[in-house]
Amino acid sequence: MSISAPAAIRLDDYAVPSFLISAVHLHIDLFETHADIRSVLQISRNPAAVGSATLTLNGYRQPLLCARIDGQPIDSTRYQLDADTLTINDVAEQFELELRTTILPQENTALEGLYKSSGNFCTQCEAQGFRRITWFLDRPDVMSVFTTTISADKTRYPILLSNGNPIDRTQLDDGRHVVTWHDPYPKPSYLFALVAGDLADVQDTFTTSSGREVALHIYVEHHNRDRCAHAMNSLIKAMQWDEQVYALEYDLDIYMIVAVDDFNMGAMENKGLNVFNSKYVLARPDTATDSDFAGIEGVIAHEYFHNWTGNRVTCRDWFQLSLKEGLTVFRDQQFSADMGSPALKRIQDVRVLRTHQFAEDAGPMAHPVRPDSYIEISNFYTVTIYNKGAEVIRMMQSIIGEQGFQAGMRLYFERHDGQAVTTEDFVCAMEDATATDLGQFRRWYTQAGTPIVDARQHYDKTLRELRLTLAQRCCATPGQTEKLPFHIPLRFAFLDRNGTPISLHTNATGIDGDIIHLREQTQTLVFTDIDQEPVLSLGRGFSAPIKLNIDRSDEDFAFLIAHDNDPFNRWDAAQNYSQQLVCQIATQIRSGTQVAMPAQYVQAIRQCLSAHDTDKALLAEALALPSEGYIADQMDVVDVDAIHQARQMIRRTLAWELQDTFQHVMMANQANEAYAFTTNAVARRAIKNLCLSYLMELDEPDIRTLCVAQLENADNMTDQIAALQMLANSNTLERDHALSVFEQRWRDDPLVMDKWFSAQATAHLPDTLAQVQNLLEHPGFDRLNPNRVRALISAFCQGNPLRFNAADGSGYRFAADQIIAIDAANPQLAARLLGAFGRWRRYDEPRQMLMRGALERVQSTATLSKDAYEIVSKTLEARHVGSHRAVAQGSTPV
Ligand code: TRP
Ligand code: ZN
Repeated sequence: MSISAPAAIRLDDYAVPSFLISAVHLHIDLFETHADIRSVLQISRNPAAVGSATLTLNGYRQPLLCARIDGQPIDSTRYQLDADTLTINDVAEQFELELRTTILPQENTALEGLYKSSGNFCTQCEAQGFRRITWFLDRPDVMSVFTTTISADKTRYPILLSNGNPIDRTQLDDGRHVVTWHDPYPKPSYLFALVAGDLADVQDTFTTSSGREVALHIYVEHHNRDRCAHAMNSLIKAMQWDEQVYALEYDLDIYMIVAVDDFNMGAMENKGLNVFNSKYVLARPDTATDSDFAGIEGVIAHEYFHNWTGNRVTCRDWFQLSLKEGLTVFRDQQFSADMGSPALKRIQDVRVLRTHQFAEDAGPMAHPVRPDSYIEISNFYTVTIYNKGAEVIRMMQSIIGEQGFQAGMRLYFERHDGQAVTTEDFVCAMEDATATDLGQFRRWYTQAGTPIVDARQHYDKTLRELRLTLAQRCCATPGQTEKLPFHIPLRFAFLDRNGTPISLHTNATGIDGDIIHLREQTQTLVFTDIDQEPVLSLGRGFSAPIKLNIDRSDEDFAFLIAHDNDPFNRWDAAQNYSQQLVCQIATQIRSGTQVAMPAQYVQAIRQCLSAHDTDKALLAEALALPSEGYIADQMDVVDVDAIHQARQMIRRTLAWELQDTFQHVMMANQANEAYAFTTNAVARRAIKNLCLSYLMELDEPDIRTLCVAQLENADNMTDQIAALQMLANSNTLERDHALSVFEQRWRDDPLVMDKWFSAQATAHLPDTLAQVQNLLEHPGFDRLNPNRVRALISAFCQGNPLRFNAADGSGYRFAADQIIAIDAANPQLAARLLGAFGRWRRYDEPRQMLMRGALERVQSTATLSKDAYEIVSKTLEARHVGSHRAVAQGSTPV
């Protein structure tokens, strides 16, 4: 442990700010070597706080060039400057503070605050980047009206943008120009943004339901001008949808989106001026896949929806992050469901939750949706805050109904527009609007961990009665050993032999329509007057973010896969059936017993594939086996090799047994028209490529030829990259050819080259690590660019469990080397990569030793960032959290 361990910030220590800043005028002069910042702050004491005459502002290592109060220089005895604060003593009730500083955006590789990307200036202020620009009360409950004056060389930076509306423009004699922006809506500093550059301006307009015309702009580098149409359409659809579904209208006359290549996350909802990772803006059929198109639609909508859920109503403090993120993810999920196939969207969202959030809940960084402490807030932009947070909102909607939920939303805005509030305020609005008691439900915000529900059904033929027993438990998580029962809404149906829901008589309490409210540790429900035992479909639509254990026979699985009229549960039955089988076969492989593939399983899959009425997209999802990482999470001691072999064995057997069917379905779904991003066309490409990937397991020259032809001839990136991934994963002559064809075609297109890097980093071939190491030297790779790092390094460390967990520890050593190098430039990015070690206690002892060695090497780095420090120390500290065993075996005493 380093000598001065960074301190944790606690929710319990929250206090209202002692001062408020009603208005701020920023003057930012941009130069090739630096930027000069002058800020003029209108400050007053907060009447709601205990009086104090000492003002402490947040900063980050800036030099103080000038400080004045009400125009008078401040005597140097009256203030104190250190690395991250500026403290001024004996201030009045109300005053104007002027500060000058200078910063180096060109040298900012952390991508927080003001930095340069591809020659343009941009900012990222969430969560605490504003303090890297100038001193401020950099906390979300201080909301100010911002005016921003930017000056820069006009030729290099013809476009100068900030939040709100442009109110002034001047041309200077020295080739520089000045633009002033004013944002009338008070906002926290984390929503401030500035952009300066030479950018193409793609325009459109939107007329709001009350008839106001809003100018829409997407700014991109000139050569990307022809890749903005999909983003613009998505924005317009999102604006329409929010009016129709939530009656929420946009509130400024201008809405701007800027795409930048260097960005730590997906995008940022700065008021009126969203800054986006270019990956979530740029798309053309030949450069972006169906999933890129869907991602753009979702992220554009997400940032737009933040204008109300995030900006108009914001967070009181960063512990409330899910107030805006959980709710906004929920809203973007609803939107995407309405734009395409709701069932498909639900399946994809649940897959993300199960693979990433369940893993987080079972690991060293597990935290509640409303955490109670953090060291570095950037580490808490997690799948728990975002995706589990969205599930919590969804459960509330299930409990109070869609109308009740809408009433709750209206009350929330009525009460809190213009305020910085808490998740508690949100829940209160939902309760008060519907007269519902969500007391026990609140535990979803405060208790971490994934609840497990065991369901047991017992049918008594003579009594003609069915007893359903539900029992819940939840594993210990760091700092929380005991958990109280959750309020879990379980959507359910009993199905007859045709898969049609039947209604059963019951006197059981806790049932409301098609929802069982599980509130106790154990609840037994009795259903009467039943002639034939029905099949239970439980947790329909994934009505709660839990693990559900139901003992199912092969027959039950086959029945549900074929007949459950809830499409989510049909998919889930297929996943669980496959999951169970992979685990069985992995056990057989490990113990050296005869490996057997049950005929019923093959038969169930054959039936699925041959059914004519099935939605093709859902079919493709059902036939995709659970990932190796997800399977690993279901095992007590992870056996990486057995999992891989078992999964491959099932894939090869299915390919062999069903090759005619795969061929047939593949041919039937070949495209015969030009690329379009429509639900139907996306589904056809998905099932066609899934069939091809199974057929590629057969190692047949003809199939490989087909795959190469698809790579070379496809008019769209979805088909091209699908073929490339399959070939990159095959130990064949065609592999090198495919990789070089693709590279020649796309070498100048960084976003497309990311897919090329990932295809190689995720390959199962034995020399993958060596290839990844070579690719670090590729001219298209850049360790300072987060997209490149994610495409190559994260893809290997977090998307290739087989090779990352190589028994000789080479993957771990590689990861540690990269993390240490990246941390020196970009702590947020390094901290994310450390997630690769989250499950280290779950491996065999030799691997645990190797992983611990790698983690300790990172920990002992002299200049380790706070970001990386928090993750690495919590990872090493955590004992047996989230383990399925009471006591973990094979762990080494520290
Ligand atoms: N609020 C952003 C979003 O979800 C998240 C975000 C963007 C972010 N960039 C960031 C968070 C940088 C932390 C650091 O829409
Ligand atoms: Zn967000």
